[in-house]
Amino acid sequence: MLNFKNWTGKQIVDVINRSLEIKQNPQNYWKELEARSLAMIFQKTSTRTRVSFEVAMTELGGHAIFLDWRATNFTLADIYDETKYLSRNVDCIMARLMRHEDLKVMAKASRVPVINGCDEKYHPCQAIADLMTVKEVKGNLEGVKLVYVGVHNNVCNSLIEACTKVGVRITTVTPLINEPSKDDELIKAAEETGLYENTLDVRAAVKDADFVYTDTWVDMEFFLDPKYAKEKERRMNIMMPYQINAKLLRESNAYVMHDMPIHRDYEISAEIIESPRSIIYQQAENRLHSAKAILIALLKK
Ligand code: CP
Repeated sequence: MLNFKNWTGKQIVDVINRSLEIKQNPQNYWKELEARSLAMIFQKTSTRTRVSFEVAMTELGGHAIFLDWRATNFTLADIYDETKYLSRNVDCIMARLMRHEDLKVMAKASRVPVINGCDEKYHPCQAIADLMTVKEVKGNLEGVKLVYVGVHNNVCNSLIEACTKVGVRITTVTPLINEPSKDDELIKAAEETGLYENTLDVRAAVKDADFVYTDTWVDMEFFLDPKYAKEKERRMNIMMPYQINAKLLRESNAYVMHDMPIHRDYEISAEIIESPRSIIYQQAENRLHSAKAILIALLKK
């Protein structure tokens, strides 16, 4: 699961439904992946992706191995060779890498499923948890309107791809794009469904939205980097009028989503995070239940 290019809407919906069922009855799955192992390899920091997949494997009766990229021989050798070895010792690999191209090499080398734990282009695991949360809150997916307000990035790509495959209408309000996340093919495919549109009129977009979603304006690896300070300031100036706050949502009944980590009072105001319309922590919790469903879908094929 590197992205959703080869996934049908039905396959995505099946994983979402399984996620909801697992959340209701976790005990029914305690032995589902007994004696199976997952390697989790990270080139970048993580809280949710690491914790959710590790706990998921434990609660499914299996085992997860955390590998910090810098402490492995992936730093010295070919990704292809190291992955070939790794896939002979584990049943699945979940990797958070800097470059999608490297993830493709990994997938080619591996004889077990490879899950994209977020790269510069896609974050498919996040999108599954997001749509699970949408279905949990609204009871359905088709016809729901989700508005993504922020920088067009990896999370935005996967949301567009997943939403348009399962019948969710998605509008993006993205004054800036993270150039490395650009995927014209994905946008073209989304446009062809008639479910995707892009606008800069944020007020009109959020007015009839069921969900308003935002994400960091600066990728995690740059947020605290002094070399990136000027670009960070430029982005803040452009993006501040698009902050998710009470004023923007005055005429909207939308629930508010954020994939976390949050930068309070940048992309979203603190008062909205704490308000009753925020489903951010429920969404983050759902990373666990959906990680289980993803693992089962890939390992029990
Ligand atoms: N949303 C998300 O992927 O969180 P982490 O970066 O903490 O894994």
